[in-house]
Amino acid sequence: MNFMNKKYHIITYGCQMNESDSERLAYMLDKMDYEYTDEIKNADILIMNTCSVRENADDRFFGNLGRMKNIKKENDMIIAVCGCMMQQEHIVQAIKKTYPFVDLVFGTHNIEQFPALLKRYKNSLKTVVEVLDDNTLSDPARQARRKYPFKAFVPIMSGCNNFCTYCVVPYTRGREKSRRAEEIVREIESLVEDGVKEVMLLGQNVNSYGIADKMDVSFAQLLRSIDRIDGIERIRFMTSHPKDFSDELIEVMSNSRHICKHLHLPLQSGSSRILKLMNRHYDKSSYLALTERIKAAVPEINLSTDIIVGFPSETEEDFNHTLDVVERVRYDSAFTFMYSPRKGTKAYEMPIDIEEAAIKRRFNRLLELQQENCAQSNARFIGKTVSVLTEGKSKNNPSLLTGRTD
Ligand code: 5AD
Ligand code: SF4
Repeated sequence: MNFMNKKYHIITYGCQMNESDSERLAYMLDKMDYEYTDEIKNADILIMNTCSVRENADDRFFGNLGRMKNIKKENDMIIAVCGCMMQQEHIVQAIKKTYPFVDLVFGTHNIEQFPALLKRYKNSLKTVVEVLDDNTLSDPARQARRKYPFKAFVPIMSGCNNFCTYCVVPYTRGREKSRRAEEIVREIESLVEDGVKEVMLLGQNVNSYGIADKMDVSFAQLLRSIDRIDGIERIRFMTSHPKDFSDELIEVMSNSRHICKHLHLPLQSGSSRILKLMNRHYDKSSYLALTERIKAAVPEINLSTDIIVGFPSETEEDFNHTLDVVERVRYDSAFTFMYSPRKGTKAYEMPIDIEEAAIKRRFNRLLELQQENCAQSNARFIGKTVSVLTEGKSKNNPSLLTGRTD
């Protein structure tokens, strides 16, 4: 270890796309001869990579940022903030006004500019704010400092064109833009050469890969090419939007040797009326039909989902449809959220009209049902020997290893 090197720390909020962006920032810092530290107080530079999908993510960030002021007083460090929150003008204004000790602000579209922005800050010692409106920049190299030597994130596209009415992502990540298939395959080939066994393909909606850019490769075809790469052992991807989940994709999954038997298929709500208000482009019966087609073609499939409780105007009857879908599909795991109004989205303008106690009750009811399903799903494995890719010591019990099946 070189004790002369300056140190950095990165706090990442939110989804895998943010984690992947943080890995790229870490790589840039490594290249600039900075060294990673676990301890914020030892850092010469701290990056906070933010998420704005729900209000509590915003609140957590601002709470933590407030605390950084004191740490910065004690040992001078550069504080940089980036990520989805910075793509919103009212947030950047709040930072300028209330948190003047922030030195560098950039967005989701100019991550590759970070070294230049840092230099600009060091030369002027004045706060640098640079947020771009759209993703015109692209970085085919996409080098990352990976958390694990044996698995890697591979973003295949950025942005989202769906405009689900509750969601801020289309505003913070811009329009859909796909990376070229050859570039993705080449990147995975070199990762595999480097010892990577598992890749996680990332996109807000991987099923629409290539469509907005009029590419002649579909997501299913891209998967087929990746499946053929010599030495790849596991392929995962997320997130799939149910509205454009093709039969071709189901077929590729059922015939592939390396695609993991797991699908994350956000339901959001089981009520067709609410789904319409959410602008999801499917209804309860088409969603159920899709999960049946998938289960028929890939019987061992493990399904996970995202569900929002308390979307504006949701009634008990609407909620019962959600419970009904959860009962029928029997997800192996589910991420459940209480609806959080996000400025700038269509749903923000809709009156919520539901008592908070009712939302909490629904949320707990859903959680209870899902926990039963989850326990049953795990019970299938009792007494079975399965192959797992180990990831290190278990957080709960260091005498055990933790890992994942396919
Ligand atoms: N409120 C609550 N949950 C939300 N999600 C997205 N936007 C909101 C919101 N405004 C959830 C969706 C999505 C997941 C990543 O976050 O379920 O699939
Ligand atoms: Fe948000 Fe919908 Fe796009 Fe997912 S598909 S990022 S929920 S707008």
